[in-house]
Amino acid sequence: MDKLIIRGGKRLSGTIPISGAKNAALTLIPCALLTEEAVTLRNLPRLADIDGFQHLMTQFGVSHTIPGKRPEDFGRNVTLEAMRITSSVAPYDLVRKMRASILVLGPLLARTGEATVSLPGGCAIGNRPIDLHLKALEAFGAQIELAQGYVKAIAPDGGLPGGDFDFPVVSVGATENALMAAVLCNGTSRLINAAREPEIVDLCNLLGAMGAEIEGIGTSELTIHGVKKLHGATYRVMPDRIEAGSYACAAAITGGEVRLEGADAGDMGSTLHALRNIGVEVETDKLGVNVAARGPLKAHNLTTAPFPGLATDMQAQLMSLLTRAEGTSVLKETIFENRFMHVP
Ligand code: UD1
Repeated sequence: MDKLIIRGGKRLSGTIPISGAKNAALTLIPCALLTEEAVTLRNLPRLADIDGFQHLMTQFGVSHTIPGKRPEDFGRNVTLEAMRITSSVAPYDLVRKMRASILVLGPLLARTGEATVSLPGGCAIGNRPIDLHLKALEAFGAQIELAQGYVKAIAPDGGLPGGDFDFPVVSVGATENALMAAVLCNGTSRLINAAREPEIVDLCNLLGAMGAEIEGIGTSELTIHGVKKLHGATYRVMPDRIEAGSYACAAAITGGEVRLEGADAGDMGSTLHALRNIGVEVETDKLGVNVAARGPLKAHNLTTAPFPGLATDMQAQLMSLLTRAEGTSVLKETIFENRFMHVP
């Protein structure tokens, strides 16, 4: 079994470079399925989930090459090329290891007219259904069947017409799947109450670089004018706002001082606001964020919410920090029903 051995009692201080965002990378990689041409992603984080997703892509006939590194590159670079899609089936064995595998459904369907993806199954932080992913694709004209643990999505002859979908709940993954399908629909699609997390903006920017036509980027209403074909692109993955926020909390817990090199303060508004309210000093500039915990920490109440609200992915780290504060803090989780597993 893997284990982490932590010898505590030290102040964390120094400078740390921030990796490319995992949650952005997991939606940028499947974009390679949307074109015959090569898509090069720079600044991919070095994580098992990224390796797993690249492995899943080979299942569909996508080739990988490593285009070399520049001295300033911190993460990994990879070129993905889906000249021909050789299979549009994502099997259980690969999907069960990583929930984000469901993000191949939209692009495979849009490119080939059909996709068969294993249902992701349960997950440690709650039920995490995929009903909204399926309903959005249905709104674009797909026929969806569920059988033997698999979702099969089929487009009408001539491709998906496109359509409008109003999300009853804000969903990052469902917005991503819908966007990746909508860009190759025959007509115009509208996503209402769409997620507007920075990772969605990153996805829209890559799709735009590939020739997609998307209006309303960064807002909760996206209009996508489908195009016949997309082309290749080279794209740098955004910095990971959750990794940066986690290091900030870790440093603050120890009364430390860190520079988060490459962190984008613009994407971290709610986390930085919470840190300041807790009594942590935060300074931002174009190239990163500095965090220092010099004085006593103060209690603060927090509620998670879709972006621009406080990210649920920062809740556990901020709770850990608040255990060191004077007074009582109340934390409320509104995104996932089972996300207090760190409390015991
Ligand atoms: C993504 C992030 C995850 C983050 C979460 C919320 C990735 C790979 N993961 O997860 O780190 O914690 O956003 O910011 O990007 N829901 C439905 N039906 C659906 C889909 C979602 O009811 O079809 C519900 C979920 O149960 C949850 C809420 O919508 O209560 C938000 O989930 P969603 O935004 O979809 O999270 P993920 O995309 O899975």
